[in-house]
Amino acid sequence: MEKESYSRRSFLNKLWVALGVVAFAEVVAVAISFFKPQKAEPAADELDAIVIAGAVDSFEPGTVSAFVQGKFYLARLDDGGFLAMSRNCTHLSCSVPWISKENKFICPCHSSEFDIKGEVINPPAPRALDLYPVAIENNILSVDTSKPRRRSVFEPNQVVYVKKT
Ligand code: FES
Repeated sequence: MEKESYSRRSFLNKLWVALGVVAFAEVVAVAISFFKPQKAEPAADELDAIVIAGAVDSFEPGTVSAFVQGKFYLARLDDGGFLAMSRNCTHLSCSVPWISKENKFICPCHSSEFDIKGEVINPPAPRALDLYPVAIENNILSVDTSKPRRRSVFEPNQVVYVKKT
């Protein structure tokens, strides 16, 4: 009887030790995962800000395409280069439509006009339309609408071209 009691007590002691080891291991695992550097994932709104505009060849030179998602225009210049521009007027932020038959943007609020590159051709707009970064990968254009870039005037280095291989 005493031997059986000893054996039960010994078993329970070993069980408690084993449970203690398991609990300790869990605490260590949680601590490691807490302090381990996490891989930086892009935020959901950053991913939403990237608009896949389409294949390079789907845009004719000398045209402007409006993108409702992202609220921007993508202009393909006569030389094949691309500019993505905000649709907000730089005067008082009215939405500026592209008037294709006149080949320019004309603001309905105070009649500012911009050429296909977003350059002011008629004030009161004080500066060119804001730009968005354009990337071209595997012949597909994407526009990052999270980072509008202010500019005073059009400059040739703002135009994005397909890289020659
Ligand atoms: S808001 Fe466009 S000209 Fe005033």
